[in-house]
Amino acid sequence: MRYIGNKENLVERIDNILVSNNVVGKSFFDFFAGTTSVGRYFKNKGLRIYSNDILYFSYCLQKAYIENNSEPKFSLLTNELNFAKTSFFSTPLDNVVEYLNNIDDVEGFIYWNYTPEGSKNIETPRMYFSNENGRRIDAIRQQIEAWKMNHLITESEYFILLACLIESVSFYSNVAGVYSAFYKKWDPRAIKRFQLRPIRICNSDKHNCVFNTNSLDLVSKVNADIIYIDPPYNGRQYLPNYHIIETIAKYDNPSVKGVAGMREYSIEKSSFCNSKTALRDLDYIASCTPCEILILSYNSEGIMPQQSIVEILSNYGEVSLNEIEYPRFKSNSNGLSKTKKHIREQIYILKK
Ligand SMILES: C[S@@+](CC[C@H](N)C(=O)[O-])C[C@H]1O[C@@H](n2cnc3c(N)ncnc32)[C@H](O)[C@@H]1O
Repeated sequence: MRYIGNKENLVERIDNILVSNNVVGKSFFDFFAGTTSVGRYFKNKGLRIYSNDILYFSYCLQKAYIENNSEPKFSLLTNELNFAKTSFFSTPLDNVVEYLNNIDDVEGFIYWNYTPEGSKNIETPRMYFSNENGRRIDAIRQQIEAWKMNHLITESEYFILLACLIESVSFYSNVAGVYSAFYKKWDPRAIKRFQLRPIRICNSDKHNCVFNTNSLDLVSKVNADIIYIDPPYNGRQYLPNYHIIETIAKYDNPSVKGVAGMREYSIEKSSFCNSKTALRDLDYIASCTPCEILILSYNSEGIMPQQSIVEILSNYGEVSLNEIEYPRFKSNSNGLSKTKKHIREQIYILKK
């Protein structure tokens, strides 16, 4: 999924750094989980995962990818609807996804607020989704909810279907990666007919635990071998950049305002988007965590200065720093940094 700070393309290199620094463990706490890329990688390596994020759509992904450990069977739904098998090799999830791709359109919250036809009465009609795709997203979201209300799907099947929807939406959004603004002309991706795509399930025999709260409230309660902290690194809060994904996940009819149709987000604001509170809370995490090894992933252009980070972490044990160079995320190529094509990910390792 397109997400600021997604470590999907870096996690293997981060792991190589951990291995070469002799960082080993059986359990892993992904403290700021986002897309769950990091949790998934270490789950696939056989570790027991704890995972948290303040955003609800991340929690849906965590329930589907991290907590759930096996292919969903959709037994109740299959009995009720008698699905056609889409191919000899298709799984129950493929069949349900195919069914959802063929239900009738519905004009719901997404259509009325984020398509040009639905929002035609406001000054600048919103072009986040084509009219048809807005209706497709509403139809699928409402059907998933109805199945849950009618007890036709289990809790984990519910979150797996929501994860399919969350992941699929970004392939059809008329945005440059984030949802704080939409393009004024249609991007070719946005005018293709919306197709729900099945997610890939991560199997495991471990009991993995996921949460949806402020990570600072969990820090002293989760005791894993390794705590991995990947906080926001600049002043941009996550929720306003992903507000529509959050609304699709919650589907709670929020009141929205402004050109972007933004929902309220005072509760989801992160202290890591301000340098003073970020340093204060890094200190709090390092002092309160019972985990013996703390890994901080941070961007070389982040608002916490390297020297301050090292000073804080050094109060609690032995600190080392390793760096990975990688290409810049497109929607971050603004301001003074425009000319720099590469940035560095800094991996701080604290052994307490
Ligand atoms: C850099 S992203 C993490 C990216 C993630 N490692 C990935 O690969 O997708 C930072 C995440 O921290 C979350 N976050 C920020 N402050 C938080 C807090 N106090 N408690 C929980 N989550 C928080 C944001 O919602 C965002 O998803």
